[in-house]
Amino acid sequence: MSPYDSDPADRFPVDRVVASAADGEDQAVEAALRPKLLDEFIGQERVREQLSVVLQAARQRGASPDHVLLSGPPGLGKTTLSMIIAAELNAPIRITSGPAIQHAGDLAAILSSLSEGEVLFLDEIHRMSRPAEEMLYMAMEDFRVDVIVGKGPGATAIPLELPPFTLVGATTRAGLLPPPLRDRFGFTGHMEFYAPAELERVVHRSAALLDVEIDPIGAAEIAGRSRGTPRIANRLLRRVRDYAQVRHDGVVTREIAAQALKVYEVDERGLDRLDRAVLTALLKLFGGGPVGLSTLAVAVGEESETVEEVAEPFLVREGLLARTPRGRIATAAAWQHMGLVPPLQPAAGRGPLPAQQELFGQGGAARPGGE
Ligand SMILES: Nc1ncnc2c1ncn2[C@@H]1O[C@H](COP(=O)(O)OP(=O)(O)OP(=O)(O)O)[C@@H](O)[C@H]1O
Ligand SMILES: [Mg+2]
Repeated sequence: MSPYDSDPADRFPVDRVVASAADGEDQAVEAALRPKLLDEFIGQERVREQLSVVLQAARQRGASPDHVLLSGPPGLGKTTLSMIIAAELNAPIRITSGPAIQHAGDLAAILSSLSEGEVLFLDEIHRMSRPAEEMLYMAMEDFRVDVIVGKGPGATAIPLELPPFTLVGATTRAGLLPPPLRDRFGFTGHMEFYAPAELERVVHRSAALLDVEIDPIGAAEIAGRSRGTPRIANRLLRRVRDYAQVRHDGVVTREIAAQALKVYEVDERGLDRLDRAVLTALLKLFGGGPVGLSTLAVAVGEESETVEEVAEPFLVREGLLARTPRGRIATAAAWQHMGLVPPLQPAAGRGPLPAQQELFGQGGAARPGGE
């Protein structure tokens, strides 16, 4: 087992409506919702612009483009973009993933059967085994692999020429890629979380494809709760559509979207039951912290890892929770979002609240303004 085998998404079953990883239903419908060409792909202006230049230049030269690495959190469109790359190049695409390639021989079999100009999509490339990775270095750089025949001292390496191909690697954890692998990509696209206006366009587009009638503020309501992630936007849209169909006349309005997402416990900011439980414990039981992770987890009734890897990343990203050396603390935004008032007592180790500073008199020598 290499450290690359461990991915939080695998260790925690996906049963949250705001999970960013794909569940079975997502996988079934995503193919239908994927944009097919670069022009249909919403947002990610920078990556789209860079990629369009890379692809157009390759088309003009009549050659395969450089290898492409797409990195970014789950559900932002890496798989979608890789298929778009093949479509834009009018090239066939072969799809595999790091965990599927356990032995170098598995990779050799795939590489040696590629046709000229084919796109090889290697999802979760950070989870490939080390020997396969080393074979990939040579294949990417020299379009050649050494196939080892036999075992022990009698083993011989038979070099095998490969046709030119384009590797498109996708990873949620670019930091785990060994530098020699990262360096062999000619272009790396860093995917960013989407702005609400972009997610609104995603929701409108998907609603049209799913034949759901939706008004603009209904779409905005869903977009605002989607955590910057198109996959979540599409999933929330499907849940809202169900609710609109069963409880109303099928049309998605702001009101219906808000009611439906209340049923699914997704709040205005996209926090779900777990996120809110963590914040509630931190605020109500520990006065906003600092409190240690394991204590917080016990208070919520979850494993430390679940709190740390499932709930916290989004809370930190939203500026609701901070991880400090002394423990987790809630920010002012967290108090406000949960509709709670911070206690007047300063929490241990933190400076006095502004209201109390005044009680201690004007500008004591030890506390000049601005410090
Ligand atoms: N820019 C976009 N415009 C429209 N829809 C998008 C866009 N990006 C992603 N989507 C939608 O979001 C869904 C998830 O995208 P995709 O599977 O490409 O994500 P991913 O980055 O590969 O995720 P993972 O890391 O889990 O593999 C797709 O069904 C696609 O329809
Ligand atoms: Mg993917």
